[in-house]
Amino acid sequence: MKLEIIEGVYWVGAVDWNLRIYHNTYSTHHGTSYNSYLILDEKIALVDGVYEPFGEEMLERIKELIPPEKISYVIANHSEPDHSGALPRLMKIVPQAKVFCTAKGKDILSRMYSPNWDFITVKTGDEISLGRKTLRFIEAPMMHWPDNMFTYVKEDFLLLSNDAFGQHIASSQRFEDEVDQSIVWEESTKYFANTLYPFCSLIIRKIEEIQKSGIPIKMIAPSHGVIWRRDTNRVFERYLQWARGEAAERTLVIYETMWESTARMARAIAQGVQSQGMEVKVYQLSASDLSDVFKEVLEARGMVVGCSTVNNTVLPAMAPFIEGLKGLRPRGKLAYVFGSHGWGGGAVKVIESALKQAGIELMEPGLMVKYMPDEEELSRCFELGKRFAQSLRKVEIKEGIQT
Ligand SMILES: Cc1cc2nc3c(=O)[nH]c(=O)nc-3n(C[C@H](O)[C@H](O)[C@H](O)COP(=O)(O)O)c2cc1C
Ligand SMILES: [Fe+2]
Ligand SMILES: [Fe+2]
Repeated sequence: MKLEIIEGVYWVGAVDWNLRIYHNTYSTHHGTSYNSYLILDEKIALVDGVYEPFGEEMLERIKELIPPEKISYVIANHSEPDHSGALPRLMKIVPQAKVFCTAKGKDILSRMYSPNWDFITVKTGDEISLGRKTLRFIEAPMMHWPDNMFTYVKEDFLLLSNDAFGQHIASSQRFEDEVDQSIVWEESTKYFANTLYPFCSLIIRKIEEIQKSGIPIKMIAPSHGVIWRRDTNRVFERYLQWARGEAAERTLVIYETMWESTARMARAIAQGVQSQGMEVKVYQLSASDLSDVFKEVLEARGMVVGCSTVNNTVLPAMAPFIEGLKGLRPRGKLAYVFGSHGWGGGAVKVIESALKQAGIELMEPGLMVKYMPDEEELSRCFELGKRFAQSLRKVEIKEGIQT
């Protein structure tokens, strides 16, 4: 089935319905797609490939339109294997094709596949003509690798954005307005939180650069998931909000426990937050999906993190969460730490130190209790929850005035 997304531009990618974990780090409950686009003009260009196991499927889709030998240009917006894995298979068919990519992209592709491809390195503003259509390149370093770029089809106002603005969704429909909106936004949010979060400043600058340049964008076609064809500015604005750290006035209580002592503290703190009319979401890490929890972190301003101590440190399920935060460096958060221990403790200090390294502000030094919390300690937890909600509201007001 041919899929023309805009006159002369065809989707020739693959849908990965069964993917449930992406590069062994990120849960993909709705699968994904690898979007490859074929532009039919006097010169024929393929923009991005697919993951290697789907290479034959991509070639079959190309063959429905043209013999693959007719491809003159291959545009590699990003060299990660989910988009470049099928390129060696294609390059065997068209060894003379010119491969357009950034200088960093050339380094990586040469290393992974072959230094002998006919690479043409491009920079922001460089253009090539395919005949009727013109491709303009926009470098987008660290969105999310050093080599990333976007390809803009000038005549169609079409931005082929690769990993930026994507979502891990497998679907038979190719456009965002054709699929369940709650899934679109849930997966877009999760994608930003797990893939793009560390690069907020660069993302703001890149989007502002595109907006200021005044280039019209009617369609954003990413390399994963569905294509945005309505009010594309809405997508940019949402990215800007996330990147600036704008989030709901909500508190997450994230904890781990062995014998429920820390869990009791967590519940009392959650009730204290709730008593102030603030929304709370509670996650025990060993019962939660870490990629989903990071999505929640992106969307909430407050985070209360608790863990008991085992062998002077945190429980195993807490470790990937705090390590992950150090990498993601979420903006604009207020946090508080608590936990039960038996003798020397350690978990609260380990978490506090990790949160500081992640650039997260702490309301005050954390609360530690010995073994099972008693009634008095639980009411202190409740009071802490109350105070946390109040502090979170104050931080919001302070930032509101500054902006
Ligand atoms: C295997 C194991 C190792 C522990 N190691 C420590 C430790 O190094 N330091 C400490 O203060 N408490 C240690 N404890 C005590 C627990 O932190 C304590 O029992 C705490 O109340 C458990 O809280 P929880 O019910 O929320 O898991 C350990 C407990 C267990 C079972
Ligand atoms: Fe990527
Ligand atoms: Fe990707």
